[in-house]
Amino acid sequence: MSNSMWGGRFSEGPAAIMEEINASIDFDKKLYRQDIAGSQAHARMLARQGIIGADDAEKIVAGLDTILREIEAGTFTFSRALEDIHLNIESRLKELIGEPAGRLHTARSRNDQVATDFKLWVRDTIDAVDAALRELQIALADKAFLHAGQVMPGFTHLQSAQPVTFGHHLLAYVEMIGRDRGRFQDARRRLNENPLGAAALAGTSFPIDRFDTAKALGFDRPTANSLDSVSDRDFVIEALAAASLCAIHLSRFAEEIVIWSSAQFRFIKLSDKFTTGSSIMPQKRNPDAAELVRAKTGRIIGAQTALQIVMKGLPLAYQKDMQEDKEQAFDAFESLELAIAAATGMVLDMEPEAANLKKAAGSGFATATDLADWLVRALNMPFREAHHVTGRIVAIASERDIELTKVPLADMQAVHPAITDAVYSVLTVDKSVRSRTSYGGTSPKNVRSQAKRWQNALAREKRR
Ligand code: ARG
Repeated sequence: MSNSMWGGRFSEGPAAIMEEINASIDFDKKLYRQDIAGSQAHARMLARQGIIGADDAEKIVAGLDTILREIEAGTFTFSRALEDIHLNIESRLKELIGEPAGRLHTARSRNDQVATDFKLWVRDTIDAVDAALRELQIALADKAFLHAGQVMPGFTHLQSAQPVTFGHHLLAYVEMIGRDRGRFQDARRRLNENPLGAAALAGTSFPIDRFDTAKALGFDRPTANSLDSVSDRDFVIEALAAASLCAIHLSRFAEEIVIWSSAQFRFIKLSDKFTTGSSIMPQKRNPDAAELVRAKTGRIIGAQTALQIVMKGLPLAYQKDMQEDKEQAFDAFESLELAIAAATGMVLDMEPEAANLKKAAGSGFATATDLADWLVRALNMPFREAHHVTGRIVAIASERDIELTKVPLADMQAVHPAITDAVYSVLTVDKSVRSRTSYGGTSPKNVRSQAKRWQNALAREKRR
C-alpha cells in the first residue's frame, strides 16, 4: 500500500518490515486528544494571523471535533500505513472536509507537533499522578492521626532499635510523597514551554504567533530555540526520574507491608481485598498487591534508563530514535498510577495489630537508649559511659532472657551503685515514645500535630 501522505514520492509502498519498524500508531494513538487540541490551537492561530482563511480554520476545528468524537466512540479506523497519530488524524480530516485540511500543516512539522503532543500528555499525566499522590497522602495522614499513640518497634538494620509509633512510621511516607510531588511540580514547571511553531527545526517564514498557541494550550511561554524545541526530551526523562523516585518510595512501603503482614511479624492485617490465598497452602494470605507495587518499580526505572540511553548519542535536531520515547513512558506512568492506587487502597484497608505491635516494641531491649539517657540525666554521667553501663545491664537481661524492666535493682547497682529504682519509670515502651518530644520525634503528641498539619495542608490544597 502506498503512503497517501507522501504523494507520488514512493512508487511502491514500504515493505512490511519497514511499516512494522516505522509505524507508531499502535501506541501513539494515545495522544489523540493532545494532537487534536494542538491542531485546533494551531489552526485558530493561523487564521488570526491571516495565514489561512477564517472559514478554513472553522472547518478544520469542526472536523477535528468530529474526529475526537469518532475516536472516543471507537468508530475511527487507525491505519498503520499512515504511520502515526498525526498523519492518521490529518488524513481523516481530509476525508471529512477536503481541501482546507491540507492547510492545517502550514508552518509546522510533525517534529514540533509530536513534541507538543507529548509534552501535553506528560503534563496531563503529572497532574493525574499528583492528584493520586495527594489521595495517598490523605489516607496515610488520616491513619497516622488515628494511630498516633500506637507503639511499634522502630528498626535500624532490621533490628529492634527504639520504639516508635505506627502513626510516626506512616507519616514518614507522607513526607517522602510530599517530596515526590514537589519533584513532579518542578518537572512540570520546566516542561511548560510551547514547542509548537519550531516547525521542522529552523522555525518558519510564516508570521505565526507562538505566544498565542502557547496561551491556548496552557503553556507559560514558547520555547526560545527551535532546534532545542524539537530535540528536547528532557521533559519525559525528568518526569520519569521523578516517577522512579516515587516508585522507589512506594516499593519501600510495599516491602514493609509484606514484612508487617507476614506470620512472623503480624504487625498489620490486610483484608482479602488486597491479598490472595494459596492454591495449595490453606493457611496463607499472600500480600500480592504489595509485591506487585514493589515490582512495578523495575519497569518505571527501566523506562527512565531506556530513554536516557536512546537520547545520549543523538545529534540535533529531531531523529526518529525519539519515537521510542513513548511506549516506555506510557507503560511507566500506567504502572505508577496503578501502584499509587494499590498503595492507597492498602493504606485504607490495613489495620494495625495493636497487641503484637506493643509486644514487639518492647522486645530486643528497645528501651536501652532510654536507660542510657536516664543515666545521663539522673546521674550526670557522660553519654559514652552511660552507653557502656547500659550495655552491661543489657548483657545481664540478655543472658537471663528477661526484659530490661525485669532486671532487679540490685543487679543494676552491681553495674553502677548510683542507679535508683526511678530508672524503671523510663523503661516502658509507652514512656519511651512519650519522651521523644524533640521536633520531628515520635511522641504521640508530635505525631498528632504533624498529622494534623498534613491533614490541614492537604485539605487546603486546591484541586487543579
Ligand atoms: N511518530 C513520530 C514520533 O513519534 C512523529 C514525528 C515524525 N517526524 C518525522 N520527521 N518523521 O517521533
